[in-house]
Amino acid sequence: MTIGIIGSGAIGTAFARTLARVGIEAIISNSRGPDSLKELVRELAPSIKAGRREEAARADIVFVAINWTKLPAALAGLPDWNGRIVIDANNPIEAPLFKPVDLKGRVSSEVFADLVPGARVVKAFNHLRAEVLANNPRVDGGQRVLFYSGNDAAAKAEVAALIDRIGFVGIDLGSLAVGGKLAQFPGGPLPNQNLVKVG
Ligand SMILES: NC(=O)c1ccc[n+]([C@@H]2O[C@H](COP(=O)([O-])OP(=O)(O)OC[C@H]3O[C@@H](n4cnc5c(N)ncnc54)[C@H](OP(=O)(O)O)[C@@H]3O)[C@@H](O)[C@H]2O)c1
Repeated sequence: MTIGIIGSGAIGTAFARTLARVGIEAIISNSRGPDSLKELVRELAPSIKAGRREEAARADIVFVAINWTKLPAALAGLPDWNGRIVIDANNPIEAPLFKPVDLKGRVSSEVFADLVPGARVVKAFNHLRAEVLANNPRVDGGQRVLFYSGNDAAAKAEVAALIDRIGFVGIDLGSLAVGGKLAQFPGGPLPNQNLVKVG
């Protein structure tokens, strides 16, 4: 099971840190190319390596964390998704204005899914601030909670297993239409709920 990361900003890096902590390998990429990631991969060696966007996109699980308006460019011209798993960690709002994007009544993950045709999209890793996500999830005598949702049960099971391996507790919120909406920022009730499951 290979993992690629598209986006090496706050969330892409936080995810890479959670993988590196338990020695899971991944290729991380951005728009500027692998040379711009030398320092990060030195810090997260040996499990995290820098690559081009196209290399990261070939993985079995592709984690996408890009500013909302830049998603179409970041996901354009990539190999066919062919049922591979894409994790949508994105929120439809961005700096500097933080004005919510008009989604025309749709759930953001459904809009996102249109950009990765043929992929099995799982919404996850979007509800916590990057600095919280990056921290050790084993805290306060329990484990930090991550929510996930998606329309493909097998894809969700793979993401749930990954969440478990990196030390979080995953909670399945159901389909993208239902769970995606609950975890959506802005609008849903779950973003920024930093929950720890004890016992
Ligand atoms: N920050 C948070 O706490 C937080 C929490 C939850 C969810 N999110 C969501 O996660 C997503 C990413 O947020 P962020 O805070 O990580 O943003 P960020 O720090 O601004 O990083 C964005 C990343 O996207 C990359 N990128 C932009 N255009 C690209 C392209 N065409 N090809 C490849 N890479 C490209 C940038 O690479 P270059 O720098 O090389 O251009 C950069 O690595 C957003 O949708 C945001 O809403 C953020």
